[in-house]
Amino acid sequence: MNYLGSKIRLSGFIYNEVSTSIGQNLADCSFCDLFAGTGIVGNFFHHKVKSMVYNDREYYSYVLNTAFYSEVNEKHYRSMLNELNQLEGVEGFIFQEYSESGSAGRLYFIANNGKKIDAIRLHIERLFQNSEINEDFYILLVATLLVAVDKIANTASVYCAFLKQLKKTAMCGINLVPLKRAFKRIEYKIFREDSNALIKNIKGDLLYLDPPYNGREYGSYYHLLNTIALYDTQFQPKGRAGSRSYSTSKFCLKREADQALLELIDHADFKHIFLSYNNEGFISPSRIKEIMTDFGTYQCSSLKYPRFKSHRNNPRSYTEEYLHHLIKY
Ligand SMILES: C[S@@+](CC[C@H](N)C(=O)[O-])C[C@H]1O[C@@H](n2cnc3c(N)ncnc32)[C@H](O)[C@@H]1O
Repeated sequence: MNYLGSKIRLSGFIYNEVSTSIGQNLADCSFCDLFAGTGIVGNFFHHKVKSMVYNDREYYSYVLNTAFYSEVNEKHYRSMLNELNQLEGVEGFIFQEYSESGSAGRLYFIANNGKKIDAIRLHIERLFQNSEINEDFYILLVATLLVAVDKIANTASVYCAFLKQLKKTAMCGINLVPLKRAFKRIEYKIFREDSNALIKNIKGDLLYLDPPYNGREYGSYYHLLNTIALYDTQFQPKGRAGSRSYSTSKFCLKREADQALLELIDHADFKHIFLSYNNEGFISPSRIKEIMTDFGTYQCSSLKYPRFKSHRNNPRSYTEEYLHHLIKY
């Protein structure tokens, strides 16, 4: 998924920095990805550490991260995807509210894809309600649908707006493809909580923090993934984007981000804290250094990194990604 702030291309760098700076064997450590998003960083570490915790306050993220650990038999999974891919479309909520020819006139999907999303999502729900699949399978299928949806959405990668003209990928038919899953069974937990509340109830060895660093609120930018995952079709989609209600993260508010980070670090019962943060974020690198130094030994590394590539951005534009490291007293 082309996710805002995704660390897909930075996971190798993060892994090298973490493994060389902790002074102990990774295999003896627990790892917590507290702002997990797509889970890419946690997934990169999962077979290298003792246990994993994922957290993100968005439901779609909970679904994606849970699906990674699904134990559904691969053959059974693939045959179910074949069945779902062949369903006839129906004119349901997604078609009416978010598709070409739908009553709301929002162009997130071509008409056929809108109908297919409804048909697939309704079928998954029926299978689960009729106990024909368990919760593990249900979450895996919903996650598979979200990833497929993201490939054919008519957006500039985020869902706060749709494009006026259909882009090429949006004209392709939706196709469910099996997701990559954990290849090593380890102890894991997945939460869907506010980071600053959860931090008071967990402890461990390595804490990885990747909070938002500007005003782009994920609840707004990815509202449609939450709507498809929840399929709570009684709500009234709002405005031109057809969004749902959300609360803004403190990390997305310039006046509150500093205090939120300070409190998070203060309450963290972890030996090592790693923080990914961009040089253009609300909190400056020097301020992060100041905050962290109060709690222990601080070091930092950085990497020049291409900006988030929504299709409107200049792909040659770079930014500096910092990985701050605190060894807590
Ligand atoms: C920069 S993204 C993380 C990207 C992730 N590392 C990846 O590679 O996919 C930040 C994430 O923090 C989540 N988030 C924002 N505020 C939060 C909060 N207060 N508690 C928990 N999660 C939060 C957002 O939903 C978003 O998924």
